[in-house]
Formats: sequence, C-alpha cells, structure tokens
Amino acid sequence: MKLKTKNLLTLGELSQKEFSQLIDYSIKLKKELKKGQNKPLLKNKTLTMIFQKPSTRTRVSFEIGMFQLGGGAINLSSNDMQLSRGESVEDTAKTLSRYTDCIMARVYDHKLLENLAEHSSIPVINGLSDAFHPCQILADFMTIKEKKKRLKGLKLAWVGDGNNVCNSMIYGCALSQMTMSIATPKGFEPNSKVVKEGKSATQIELTSDPQKAIKNADIVVTDTFSSIHNTDPKRTKKFLPKYQVNSKLMKLAKKDAIFMHCLPAKRGSEVTSSVIDGPQSVVWDEAENRLHSQKALLVFLINA
Ligand code: CP
Ligand code: NVA
Repeated sequence: MKLKTKNLLTLGELSQKEFSQLIDYSIKLKKELKKGQNKPLLKNKTLTMIFQKPSTRTRVSFEIGMFQLGGGAINLSSNDMQLSRGESVEDTAKTLSRYTDCIMARVYDHKLLENLAEHSSIPVINGLSDAFHPCQILADFMTIKEKKKRLKGLKLAWVGDGNNVCNSMIYGCALSQMTMSIATPKGFEPNSKVVKEGKSATQIELTSDPQKAIKNADIVVTDTFSSIHNTDPKRTKKFLPKYQVNSKLMKLAKKDAIFMHCLPAKRGSEVTSSVIDGPQSVVWDEAENRLHSQKALLVFLINA
C-alpha cells in the first residue's frame, strides 16, 4: 500500500481510490486490534509530533497508534524547541529528517506545514492547521462507512462555522461522491477555492439556512463556533440561536441520520446535550476511529 503523496497536508492530495483504500484499511486494522491480531507493521519506526496548540485526541491517538504498530512517538511542544527562539522551519525540518521517520504537526498557520513538508525528506502529516484537519476527516469517513455501510450518494449536512474541519469535510465528500449541504452565517463560509474544487467532483450546496441543509440528511455535522485560532470573543454570538444543532433541527434529517462532532464540544452552544449525548450521536466512535485511521495513514506513508 502506497500513496502517491509524500505528505498528508490536505485530503486534496489523495485520489478517490487512495481515500477509499485508507478507509477500508482503517476498518481492517480496527477489526484486527479487537481480535488481538494487531501486527508490528512499523517496528522500530518513530513519529515526531509538534504541537503549537493543545490537543487531547490527536496527541493520544497518534502516540498510542505508533505504540500499537511496534514503533514509538515523541511529543514536542513548539515552545520547547529552538523554533521558539528563531531557528528556521527549514533547519528544523532537515534536522528532524535525520532522526525520525515521520513528522506530525499541529500548527496555527498552514503555510508552516507546507514549509516543513518542503524541507523534510520524510512524510509530514497535518494534525490540524487554521485551514484543514485531514486526519479528523479520515476518522469521520471511516465512521460513516461503518455505520452506513457505504459512502457514495449519502447526504452530509454541515451546520455552523465553515472552518478548517469543514474545509477538509468538503474534500472527504468530493473523494467519496457524497453530497454536502453547508449552512453558515454570511461571512463564515468555507474556503472558496476548496468549495470550487469540491463542486468539480460532487454536489456542494452553500446556504445560510440550517433547516434547508439538514433536510433529508444522512449525516449531520457541526463543530465549535470558536476554533483555537479564532480570537474574537464575540464570535459565538453570531451563530446563536440559529445554527445550534438541537433536537428540533435533527428531526428534519432522515430518521436514521447520525450526528457527528470532531470534539471538543461545547454543549448548549453549537449542539445541545439532547443531540450529542442522544441516540443518533456517534461521537465516541468518531473519536476512537482517530486511532485506527491514523494507524492506516502511518502505515501507508511510512512503509511507502
Ligand atoms: N478532534 C481533535 O482533533 O481533537 P483534539 O483537539 O483533542 O486533538
Ligand atoms: N475547529 C477546531 C477543531 C478542534 C479539533 C479548532 O480548530 O479548534
């Protein structure tokens, strides 16, 4: 199993076939692990993780994933690195390439990742930037496939902020031929270039009406109204109450629709407890699947 891309900075780097292979392999690795049949596919390999921002899921799932694959991971806060004292990204990339087999970085500015990737001889994975969160979407589509047994032809509704996770979700829908309806307030739409790319592969609708977006959806997704990189303290107010996913809104989706959220969630803000803690929510499977889908990604990238 081999990907054409050296890095995973956005899902736009994958072909439909590669995306589908990654999802299926993630499901296979999960089954093997549950049966106690996990193999040391990355024995003695190492992952170096750099975090400019906090993380629970990304950090733990990557570290444990490497451990389960027979390798190891180290975690660096960017504050502890010479980067924080002005060492260049180029020199950091060249140095790390001499020690480790793969870099995963969570950064503010997506350009920093591109710079890191350009100067590394090893794969670089985006663990979230201001623009994209591809690893989240691999786990999300794995979860959708497990729950719905297919991807093509399903309708996904995104309600709330057209943020980094939404941008990556557009690629996910395009790569799996799912339709996507995105409801955001004016001024909070996803990246227009990504929307254009998405529209060239599948049906992507932009609206400011959450009811319209959710109607007949198979999957309903939201995320925080205030991402780590957002600084305006009044931002959340611009979404409420219209864009909150509550039970009334969920009723407009298909009866068997699932609810997804990458977490961390703010109950009472972008979603009510009745939805995120209710029977349609699959958020814990989604969080678990970060582990399995990133293991698949690491095997595909490092073993390439
Ligand atoms: N969903 C997600 O990326 O969670 P963390 O911020 O906890 O890593
Ligand atoms: N959109 C959120 C996702 C966190 C996992 C953020 O960037 O903070």
